[in-house]
Amino acid sequence: MIDPSQPYSNWFIRFFKQLFPAPFQFTLVVAFSLVAALSFGVGAWVISRTIDQYLVTSMTERVSRDMRLAQAFYVDHLKWIEDITVRLAKEPNVLGFFQGKPMGGWQTTSDFRAYLSTQMRGLFDQGNHVVVIVDREGKVKAAVLVETANVIILEHDTRYSFALPIVQKAIQEREIFSATEIIPEEALLSIRLAEKARIPILDTPRAAPQPYDPREGSAGLALVSVAPLHQKGQTFGAVVVFHLINNDFTLVDRIKTVAGVDTVTIFLGDQRVSTNVLTEQGKRAIGTRLSAEVGEVVLYKGESFVGPAFVVNQNYITRYDPLYDHQGNIIGILYVGASQGRFLRLLTAFNRQVALIALASILITFVLAIPVSGYITRPLGELRKLVQTSQKVSQGDLSARAPVNVGGEVGLVASSFNTMLDTLQSTQDKLIQSEKLASLGQLAAGVAHELNNPLATILLYADILRRESALDLQYQTDLETIINKTLRCKQIVSGLLNFARQTQVNAQPTSVNDLIQELIEIEKRHTRYEKIVFNLELEAALPLAELDAAQFREVLLNLIHNAADAMPDGGKITIRTAAKPDDMIAVEVQDEGKGIPPEHLSKLFTPFFTTKPVGKGTGLGLAIIYGIVKMHRGQINVQSEVGRGTTFTISLPIKLNLHRESQGEEGIIGG
Ligand SMILES: Nc1ncnc2c1ncn2[C@@H]1O[C@H](COP(=O)(O)OP(=O)(O)OP(=O)(O)O)[C@@H](O)[C@H]1O
Ligand SMILES: [Mg+2]
Repeated sequence: MIDPSQPYSNWFIRFFKQLFPAPFQFTLVVAFSLVAALSFGVGAWVISRTIDQYLVTSMTERVSRDMRLAQAFYVDHLKWIEDITVRLAKEPNVLGFFQGKPMGGWQTTSDFRAYLSTQMRGLFDQGNHVVVIVDREGKVKAAVLVETANVIILEHDTRYSFALPIVQKAIQEREIFSATEIIPEEALLSIRLAEKARIPILDTPRAAPQPYDPREGSAGLALVSVAPLHQKGQTFGAVVVFHLINNDFTLVDRIKTVAGVDTVTIFLGDQRVSTNVLTEQGKRAIGTRLSAEVGEVVLYKGESFVGPAFVVNQNYITRYDPLYDHQGNIIGILYVGASQGRFLRLLTAFNRQVALIALASILITFVLAIPVSGYITRPLGELRKLVQTSQKVSQGDLSARAPVNVGGEVGLVASSFNTMLDTLQSTQDKLIQSEKLASLGQLAAGVAHELNNPLATILLYADILRRESALDLQYQTDLETIINKTLRCKQIVSGLLNFARQTQVNAQPTSVNDLIQELIEIEKRHTRYEKIVFNLELEAALPLAELDAAQFREVLLNLIHNAADAMPDGGKITIRTAAKPDDMIAVEVQDEGKGIPPEHLSKLFTPFFTTKPVGKGTGLGLAIIYGIVKMHRGQINVQSEVGRGTTFTISLPIKLNLHRESQGEEGIIGG
């Protein structure tokens, strides 16, 4: 069956395996990434919440600051109006208009009005300001409208009265009063300004069903200041100056531009009479009404409203503060607001940034986790190799070794595992070797025993025959040869018995140093050693060792004999002794001869192994040494390097516990 996706999936599996060679590594990477995702996710959420909170707080603080600024402008403007009012009230020409008979210094009322209009010119740079002079009953005597640069003399309609409560209060109490006031339609009609103030009520979503003030739509909201005109205990009337806020945007725009406030609105009751909030059509939203929810807080409870609110047609972060008239009644609202759009854009940008950072961090963690987990799991790979090696070993391959590629604990485990295997192998080799030698020894002992008696008989009869003087010289010589060759056979047989540990050990505490010195003293005279230099490095504090001196001499003789044979052109033979821990001594015989090839090492102690020409060596020397050393419960080791020399090391216990041997622990004694 042909699977078109096969090559792709193969490629993917291969790539995956290369990326995560150990399954555990993949688990680690996933775990790392999950932890990162969790912590970065929670972190991002917390940061986003914090930023959100911070922005809300800072926006709220901002609108509160905006409100303070707006109020400062508002109050400042009212103060300015009051200053002008007071100044006019002190003007002798104004007071004279009431005092003089019939008209003070003025020929006609028109003259006074003209005078008033010149007085007012240039006093207010922007906005609709009105100056009204009233008599004690609140009847209008003169009124002018200052519209920026124009000053218009207002005709008055005597059918209506301008007797506002604030005006009456100022006349009665002879005090100056300044406040935000509602100027009802009737008062406006008296100076023919009703049209200027009229703002039809517009339907507004979320507004309360009923307007807060029934006069909304027709009445005017104004910043009013009233100063009484009085002299010598007599009150004549009052000077009233007011800024009509309806349809006049100068104050709100000044606050917006100079104080940097987003939107400012002044409400009469819950109706916008002056604002720079725009409708969807881009017109100023005058005539629209406040949302019922905000009205409840500000107009009915008399508290500030702070927070996000629906203004006209969109959301703003807002602050609404009530406006009070001179009697302390709530008559309107001063509003400032910052568009939430900008705030939301800022928030979205922040959140996007935070999300991006979190995502990038998770990605970086994932990418970094690959090499990091690789580094962490590398020793595991080595452990797996170690397991494979131990499996090979358990299947019988003692030559298997674990690769030591890493440091640290795992490397340590691998190298000590290898050391253990080395020891195991050499122990096993030695065991095999000694078992081989032991069975060979049994065979040799059997043969030797069988040969010993016939040889003794041959020797006896040959000797008897030789003593027969009647024999020819020829026979004599032949018999001599028989005796010599038989002696040689006996020597071999005794060597074999030595190897097979079938001889007695006559152990006595012996100074090995003395024994060596005496032996060398005699041997060095032998022609065999004429080219040899003996170098003795004997440890002075060497303890006495229990050993069979004759047998040990044989051991040494064989060793120096072999050493000399290995150096046909002469050289140095070093004999060392040393005390060892555990009540042992060591004797070393070192030469500078031709050395032993590695393949011979395992056969050295086998009887009849020799590399010497026929007739020169029997190959029994080391076999005998081996037997003797084992009988002394010792060890013999050899180290050799071809071309450089050989060192035989014999370790012996200083106390030879023959008692154990008699218990039949041949294995231990021979060991
Ligand atoms: N010091 C040495 N340097 C190099 N080869 C050695 C040394 N000692 C022993 N050999 C090797 O080990 C072989 C066996 O030695 P071993 O003493 O058992 O027998 P041999 O010396 O050959 O004969 P024998 O000792 O009976 O005369 C030697 O033939 C020689 O090849
Ligand atoms: Mg020898």
